[in-house]
Amino acid sequence: MFEFAPEPGTPKPLLYAALARAAQDVTAGESDAVANMANIAALIWQFVPSLNWAGFYRAMDDELVLGPFVGKPACVRIPFGQGVCGTAAASGSIQLVPDVHAFPGHIACDADSRSELVVPVMGPAGLLAVIDLDSPETGRFDEEDAAGMELVARFAAGLL
Ligand code: SME
Repeated sequence: MFEFAPEPGTPKPLLYAALARAAQDVTAGESDAVANMANIAALIWQFVPSLNWAGFYRAMDDELVLGPFVGKPACVRIPFGQGVCGTAAASGSIQLVPDVHAFPGHIACDADSRSELVVPVMGPAGLLAVIDLDSPETGRFDEEDAAGMELVARFAAGLL
């Protein structure tokens, strides 16, 4: 059993450092990628406040395919270049979207989503996956969230 209890009000850099350490703990000695993604999605959900969706899309050929997540059922396949996730996949760059309704081509999987952060998971040979965080609050994510999730994505790259 794993017990993690992030203190409410913890500054974001410390919160994401603790999340990255927890991700190391729950994946230590385990080689199954699905199990590791599932536990990391659960940790993101536990550590990062005000989310309505958190999880992975895996890069398969030229599309993203839904992976382990916490939240409502979501679109299964997203072509590279489409929506926020597909834009992150095609560009290899973090997408920080304060208002999803202002993002051309945003794919509404959950009508509650107002802002979104998508972080590519890059391996030596290219894109492995993206990590997608959705919030019901407009402007929920900032550069500290992006930097923190980049830490998590770099760690996850070694597991996929
Ligand atoms: N909104 C995303 C689709 C994935 S869901 O939010 C889980 C997008 O535009 O790519």
